[in-house]
Amino acid sequence: MIVTILETIGNTPLITIPNSNKADEGQVLLKYERYNPGGSIKDRAAIYLIHEAERRGLLKPGGTIIESSSGNFGISLAMIGAAKGYRVIVLVDPKTTNANLALLKGFGAEVIVVTEQDDSGSYHKTRISLANKLAREIENSYRPDQCFNLLNSEAHYKSTAREIMDSCPGGMKAFIAAVSTGGQLGGISKYLKTYAPDVQIIGVDAVGSAIFGGHSDSYRIPGIGLGWTPVNLDMEFVDCAYKIADEQAFLTARAFARHEGVLMGPSSGACALVALRVAQQLAPGDRVVCMVSDGGERYIQTLFNDEWMEQQGFATAADTETIRTMARQLQPWSMRPSDCSNYRSDLLDSLEVPDSTLRMNSEVLNREYYNQGSSIYID
Ligand SMILES: Cc1ncc(COP(=O)(O)O)c(C=O)c1O
Repeated sequence: MIVTILETIGNTPLITIPNSNKADEGQVLLKYERYNPGGSIKDRAAIYLIHEAERRGLLKPGGTIIESSSGNFGISLAMIGAAKGYRVIVLVDPKTTNANLALLKGFGAEVIVVTEQDDSGSYHKTRISLANKLAREIENSYRPDQCFNLLNSEAHYKSTAREIMDSCPGGMKAFIAAVSTGGQLGGISKYLKTYAPDVQIIGVDAVGSAIFGGHSDSYRIPGIGLGWTPVNLDMEFVDCAYKIADEQAFLTARAFARHEGVLMGPSSGACALVALRVAQQLAPGDRVVCMVSDGGERYIQTLFNDEWMEQQGFATAADTETIRTMARQLQPWSMRPSDCSNYRSDLLDSLEVPDSTLRMNSEVLNREYYNQGSSIYID
């Protein structure tokens, strides 16, 4: 098979975890997104948004891509920019790891570290505002705008969700994904609720994030969480939400490396812990599909660094039984996430979301399949 690097995006495997997952319970299947060429699930949304922008003339040869990203989406855009010859500017924050900064720069992206916190103690709003400002100032630039652009969830509706259904001809009982922009959970839940409505849809967030309501506080899990409910996620399609504590996410990711030979980042550790919990309540033959959004290499200096773990006050190792017990003790944060939604349509104005995003969203919302049963609130 001879292809370009960008043609290797998608078609990731579903993998089993036989050492942690017992034969007398449901079967956990990990959708292993590390195999995308940029190393994470974000390659899918990034290539979809860039292709759509090119098709509509929003991104022209020699153009500049400007995005706010704590790591993975920026890395995907940087890789695509390198392959296609675009200038890429990524706005990160102090939580972005050195490994991610090195990858961004390795792909040739220009990196701006935003250090001003927003009103929730996070950096999302300040990063997005500055990205929008730069996009207004830099000629021939394009803002993919993963947080507010509905093409983000559409990308997963069209690729990831279909792949999952195709690889599970016998169906699945539950589907689990972590949430930040809501792209993956939003797109896949919409698809599953349309074509396999009995699948239980479970969202995973960090303790300290307010996607499913609750108060905002600082947390260490990278790539997960937001101070509000993202427009890409329709809460009506989510049956249940868990919030996972930092140490549990990091320890589970470590345990899967050590006891399954599977590298994953902390957000995937959080999801995999919930997947084990759900499997414990199911019967053999029932499947639980769990997104593993990235691999572990980009967390070498944090997740896989004993000293860093100790500095956070985290344990450094847990055996399979400890992880299984931790899973058994998990309680859902909400069994009716739609009651806890925290949509913030006012942010469209206050963060000065670009007109190109708003136009794109009207187009997406007009697509018949997209609106089936949708209750997303967007101006
Ligand atoms: C490692 C990781 N996990 C989960 C997510 C959440 O995905 P989404 O933004 O599609 O909700 C992200 C997003 O940045 C991520 O980088």
